[in-house]
Amino acid sequence: MEDSPLFDIRHLTVAFQKNGSAIPVVDRASFFIEKGEILAIVGESGCGKSQLALALAGLSPKQAIVDKNIISKPDMTISMIFQEPLSALNPVITIGEQIREALRFPKDKKSNRASVIDLLESVGITDAGNKYKNYPHEFSGGMRQRVLIAIAMAREPDLLLADEPTTALDVTVQRQILDLLKDINQNRGLSIVFITHDLTLLPSLADRIMVMYAGKIVETGRVESVTQNPKHPYTKRLLSAAKLQKTDDGLYESIPGVVPAPEDFPQGCRFSTRCEFAKDECHTTEPEWTEENGHGWACPYGD
Ligand SMILES: Nc1ncnc2c1ncn2[C@@H]1O[C@H](COP(=O)(O)OP(=O)(O)OP(=O)(O)O)[C@@H](O)[C@H]1O
Ligand SMILES: [Mg+2]
Repeated sequence: MEDSPLFDIRHLTVAFQKNGSAIPVVDRASFFIEKGEILAIVGESGCGKSQLALALAGLSPKQAIVDKNIISKPDMTISMIFQEPLSALNPVITIGEQIREALRFPKDKKSNRASVIDLLESVGITDAGNKYKNYPHEFSGGMRQRVLIAIAMAREPDLLLADEPTTALDVTVQRQILDLLKDINQNRGLSIVFITHDLTLLPSLADRIMVMYAGKIVETGRVESVTQNPKHPYTKRLLSAAKLQKTDDGLYESIPGVVPAPEDFPQGCRFSTRCEFAKDECHTTEPEWTEENGHGWACPYGD
C-alpha cells in the first residue's frame, strides 16, 4: 500500500444534542490527507472546521457525538495547535519544562534538555539555553505560538492540525509563523492540516484546499485548480470576497447572509438559501459529488 494516503476518513460526523435530537455540525465528511502535504480547510465561521479537526485529533468536547471511520493508520500521533497560544500554555511552568513534558520518548535529564533546546532552535527561538527558563507571559504572541509548535513537534506527530494559528497575531508575525510551518512541512515532510478564514494565505501555503459549508465538504482539490477554476458557487463567492477571483460580472463581492445555525441547515443543498444560481431541486435534493482529476465539488451546476 505504498501510495495510499496517510489518512483516509469516511463519513466523519460530529453532532450535538439539541432539544432531544442529535444535530450534526459536521455531516458525513469524507476526505484524505497525503503524506507530506499541507491541506487547508476554509469556510466561514460556523462551518464546522474546528469540530472536524478536533474529531480527527480525538479532542472533541465530551458532549459531542462522533462517528468516524478511519481507513488508514488509526494509530497515528496527531498534534494540534490553536488560535490563542497563551490559553494553551501553563502560566506557572517554564516553557522549557512544558516542552520537555511533551517529549514522546523522554530519556535522561541531560539529553531531554538537549532535545528541548534543539526543538526551541528548530522553531526559530534563539538563545534557547536561556529562554528555556522563561515563563509564557515573558514571551510575545508570536514567540508563544512558536513554543506551541515546539510542544506539538516534541510529540513527533505524523500529522499537525493547525486551527487558525495566526489569526491572533499581527501580519508580520503571521507571515513568520506561516513560513515556519511551511519550513517544518518541507524539511521534515510533516503533513499539516491548516484551518483558516483567510483565503489569501492559500496560494503560497497549501497544496490542497477543502472548502466547507454548513458542515459539508463542498469542494476540494489542488490549490491552483480550486483557486483558478472554482466550481462550487460558494467557493467562487469566497474567492471573490478574498479578492482572489472576480465574479461573473467582473466584481469582487462578499457573500450576502450568514451560515445558518446547525438546527436550521436547509434541505437539499445547504448553500441553496444563499446561492444566486439555486433552482427548485437545489432546495430539495442533496447535490451529487462530481470529480475530475482530483478536483471534486458538490453542485450539479458547478462550472
Ligand atoms: N460544544 C458545542 N455544543 C453545541 N454546538 C457546538 C459546540 N461546539 C461547536 N458547536 C457548533 O458547531 C458548529 C461548528 O462549529 P466550529 O467551531 O467547528 O466552526 P468553525 O468553522 O471552526 O468556525 P470559526 O471559523 O468561527 O472557528 C457551530 O454551529 C457551533 O455553534
Ligand atoms: Mg474554528
